[in-house]
Amino acid sequence: MGGGQVPASAAEHTWEVQRLRIAPVGALSGRVRVAGAKNSALKLMAAAVMARGTTVLHNVPRISDVDCMADLLRSMGLGVTWVGNSTLQIVRPETIVPEAPYELVERMRASIVVLGPLLAVEGRARVALPGGDDFGPRPIDMHLRALEDLGGTFVSAHGYVEGTTPGLVGTRILLEFPSVGATENAMMAGVLAKGTTTIENAAREPEIADIAAFLNAMGARILGAGTSTVTIEGVSELHPAEHTVIPDRIEAATWLAAVGVAGGDIEIEGARADHMDMVLVKLAEMGVEVTATEGQLPGLVVHAPERLRAVDSVATLPYPGVATDYKPLLVAMLATADGVSIVTENLFAGRFRYIDELVRMGADIRTEGHHAVVRGRDRLSGAPVRAPDIRAGAALVVAALRADGETVVAGADHIARGYDDFVGKLVALGADVSVVD
Ligand code: UD1
Repeated sequence: MGGGQVPASAAEHTWEVQRLRIAPVGALSGRVRVAGAKNSALKLMAAAVMARGTTVLHNVPRISDVDCMADLLRSMGLGVTWVGNSTLQIVRPETIVPEAPYELVERMRASIVVLGPLLAVEGRARVALPGGDDFGPRPIDMHLRALEDLGGTFVSAHGYVEGTTPGLVGTRILLEFPSVGATENAMMAGVLAKGTTTIENAAREPEIADIAAFLNAMGARILGAGTSTVTIEGVSELHPAEHTVIPDRIEAATWLAAVGVAGGDIEIEGARADHMDMVLVKLAEMGVEVTATEGQLPGLVVHAPERLRAVDSVATLPYPGVATDYKPLLVAMLATADGVSIVTENLFAGRFRYIDELVRMGADIRTEGHHAVVRGRDRLSGAPVRAPDIRAGAALVVAALRADGETVVAGADHIARGYDDFVGKLVALGADVSVVD
């Protein structure tokens, strides 16, 4: 995809339902460059509704979730245009429609993150209620409670939640759980609330610090983002700003998993080791050697042995723990490692669906509640499988790198939701991956 306008809808895009074919080739080598973080870019785009004028975001990934958020902003009346390969210009006019329609929220649950910004800047918001998805029900009660603490009132009817406020007022918000989305909604709303807001038990993900950096560039006064206590001094208005999105740590982990499974030596440009501490500890236990490089574009130099070692246990936790988004990638690695590992999911109850697909590829994995017991096999067996979501889809492709024969992954449009040039990057690492017509 080159520059030019973002297509009006994802249907016009090349992200139609696709299948990927993968054949094993042995060790990987080469260099890839990580795109901007999906989970930051989507929220930065949402934050742009809070400042009239022109926002410029650099290092935005060319993925279909970004197209979806662009469609959502457009449906509200904003202008969204690519002005460079990874630079997005967002123009917010004086008047907008503070509404997120069902068709778009259904396509992408992260759309809910417009709720806080709209309520703060427009005093009202109407957002379709997100349904459950492939990894279990994901309620928004914590988002609503935090916004109610700030002075929002919500009613829900006909599948929509409608919020109004005579003006938000800063307060102490204590989150029951460090929810990423609830922290972001509360933080974005808090910047325009009157007085001081503190968010306690806030999520600490690097993407939250990135959003705060952008909001501060817009004139907000946020301290402590990236720690469990975020303090916000409310301001009456924000102005547009220019910002560069942080690199995608989950994408970086995908290339680490690929070389982990296939073996070899690769370089991951742009990845930030300091955003990936805990997962790098786990990878080191498996035998993956990672060296952080410094310089103009920091990155990771990675060496993986011919076969990984199992790890006793891996458990997903809020940051700085091992992110739940890494888990399918870790399971793919452990499915071909030497020994038995136990993987525990602590965030999303049903996030094990892809395991059935890995089992179809010959993996020996047993699940019990939120635990998975993974008995590593030296090689898997290529098979037709289906990607249930973004990261699980990537994990199936990674597993196929050590499977005898060909694997065909259907539902690859899920992968395009979160990966910029997924196939191109794997090919750059020497993998034999192609799109099936
Ligand atoms: C974000 C990420 C997602 C990641 C997750 C956890 C985006 C677009 N998505 O999702 O990739 O896996 O963080 O790191 O950034 N919960 C409630 N009530 C709420 C909110 C959340 O019960 O109001 C529960 C969820 O069901 C889940 C847990 O809290 O079990 C964590 O969810 P949360 O941190 O909010 O994740 P998201 O922001 O949805």
